[in-house]
Amino acid sequence: PIGSRRALVSGEGLLVDTVHDEVARACARYGGGVRRAAPGGARGLPARGDHAGGPFDLVLALRAAGPLPAVAEQVDARFRGRRGRADDAIGDEGFVIARRDGVTVVLADEPAGLLYGLFHVVRLGEPAFGAARPVEHHRPAMRRRMLDHWDNVDVHPKSGQVERGYAGGSIFWRDGAPRGDLPRVRSYGRLLAACGVNAVAVNNVNVHVTEAHLLTDRLGDVAAIAAELRPYGIRTHLAVDFAAPIVLGGSPTGDPCDARVRKWWAEATERVYETIPDFGGYVVKADSEGRPGPFAYGRSHADGANVLAEALAPFGGVVHWRAFVYDHRQDWRDRSTDRARAAHDHFAPLEGLFRDNVILQVKHGPIDFQAREPVSPVIAAMPSTRLAVELQVTQEYTGQQRHVCYLAPMWSEVLGFRPFGPAGPAVARIVAGAAPGGERGTRGGRAPDEGGGLVGVSNVGDDAYWTGHPLAQANLYAFGRLAWAPWTDPAAILDEWIDLTFAPVAHGDREPLRRALHAIMDDSWRTYERYTAPLGVGFMVRPEHHYGPDVDGYEYTSWGTYHFADRDGVGVDRTRATGTGFAGQYPPHWSAVYESLDRCPNELLLFFHHVPYEHVLHSGSTVIQHIYDTHFAGVEQVAEARSLWEGLAGSVPAALHARVRELFDEQLRCAKEWRDQVNAYFFRKSGVPDARGRRIP
Ligand code: GCU
Repeated sequence: PIGSRRALVSGEGLLVDTVHDEVARACARYGGGVRRAAPGGARGLPARGDHAGGPFDLVLALRAAGPLPAVAEQVDARFRGRRGRADDAIGDEGFVIARRDGVTVVLADEPAGLLYGLFHVVRLGEPAFGAARPVEHHRPAMRRRMLDHWDNVDVHPKSGQVERGYAGGSIFWRDGAPRGDLPRVRSYGRLLAACGVNAVAVNNVNVHVTEAHLLTDRLGDVAAIAAELRPYGIRTHLAVDFAAPIVLGGSPTGDPCDARVRKWWAEATERVYETIPDFGGYVVKADSEGRPGPFAYGRSHADGANVLAEALAPFGGVVHWRAFVYDHRQDWRDRSTDRARAAHDHFAPLEGLFRDNVILQVKHGPIDFQAREPVSPVIAAMPSTRLAVELQVTQEYTGQQRHVCYLAPMWSEVLGFRPFGPAGPAVARIVAGAAPGGERGTRGGRAPDEGGGLVGVSNVGDDAYWTGHPLAQANLYAFGRLAWAPWTDPAAILDEWIDLTFAPVAHGDREPLRRALHAIMDDSWRTYERYTAPLGVGFMVRPEHHYGPDVDGYEYTSWGTYHFADRDGVGVDRTRATGTGFAGQYPPHWSAVYESLDRCPNELLLFFHHVPYEHVLHSGSTVIQHIYDTHFAGVEQVAEARSLWEGLAGSVPAALHARVRELFDEQLRCAKEWRDQVNAYFFRKSGVPDARGRRIP
């Protein structure tokens, strides 16, 4: 949108340099020019008029940079007037935007805000330079908007270069060494800043031996990445091995209460900050799926997290401590153990015991990133603990970037869920730092920026389209946008993504493309849900790689993910009355809803209840008929989406079209496989025929 326009960038600092360079780059490509105001401000520079360097169409200025062009002063006065004298801060990452007298003005207090303001102008496109716009104030709802890379430095025998990665290799690492493509890392930072992300953890939460060394002797590799991400306002974090004092420091123990261990962490952390002064902090997966942790020493997870937090505190760092702790060596015969309960059982008793710079990172559901789960009860259980919700942008259980599955509608449901019942705050407010008692209230709770925010497991790799499936980019974009503005309609986010992505490359009229992409993507998560595991029961995937159907694949394993189907019925009884009691981990409102067979939402029925196949759903259909109907419908919807995409040949670049077409062939094949295996399985178990007489193999 810069076009042949003239821009003024005013202010100092690394990120202001970035803003200037971005505008200069746009001008080089599309025409126009940019001027950097001299230190001391832009006094005397008229926004319009014949002054050398002017007139300006776009002013991007830090308010503190000194006197602003007159029109920017007017916008600022408007903003201050509206806010009242008491609170006229724009906020660390916020910006104010307005257009008057033919000038688009972006103001910020901090360089990061200016950068986000610039990307907002880009998002608006041509209309940013159209009619006058009133003063708008934008600020992120969450201060922490982070992506976790599950990237290994070494290719790991089981998980490869990127654990659960479906977009090629790592953009950071290759075969045991830094990948060395620093421009690519810089572009990644740019991409993420444009989405609103401001933190990245650069290695797998499963920290193997090579990766453990990133904390000490290989810190230089991390610093090199941090240097590329910094100009885009992104802080670098590291996943660390809880046993690092033993593995790296030769300590006889990793006991968090041992003075030597505390000293080791303190010294290691000091060296990290000497090398990377704006380092973000640590991510820890402890006592989970074989990773070491405090349990080995009879210590709690608060003891474990706090020792790292104590080391980070002097430097302003945080520890993201994951709540994904459960017994993965469960005996499937043991009906009293319920994996869904584990995080709450382990962590709720620790409420109040974590240091201030511990962020407890909770997966959105109690099990593991299934296409449908209830929201984790941990989120309501720890009002004085900083909580982050972890989402899986990489599509491990949602089609592995071979299937179209736009996840924003799911995330939006999670963020909008009110764990304390209709009168309480939504998940988005809780992780933003709001007190549990009130919708916006911070009184008696934390300030809005003290929450743990949102963390996504990245779906990016060294693939030419970044995400393997080109349409999976929308998930990355939506993650950042929802962390910034959780109430945004997923369809509106998709609209932004379509414009930003296809405007430069689409051929001809963009409206048909927009309509087709909405038809393909808006409901694609529900389509995926329809042809996979029914009614919230989850899994039914092929063990280990988790792609494609295998109804009993996990049924007699140690992983705690069962559906308990027999000839009479299916589902997991998690009620207090007769089941595992998981439903009782929620505050009263939801506990009562989930406990009740009548009130439990259809889509979660089999997560909470074991029911007969003839059980009648709220829709009037029986469970067995619902299974048949949704599986037939899901496949039909994939076929429709595929033909809509066919129709876009010629509207998008040929290589992109071909890539998505091939992936659609695979999605359709796989969806049919799901339909047939699930339907055949339940037909054989139940003996109940399809009421509509369709063929079930
Ligand atoms: C899932 C996933 C693992 C991952 C784990 C985690 O279980 O399959 O690959 O390590 O989640 O979140 O730690």
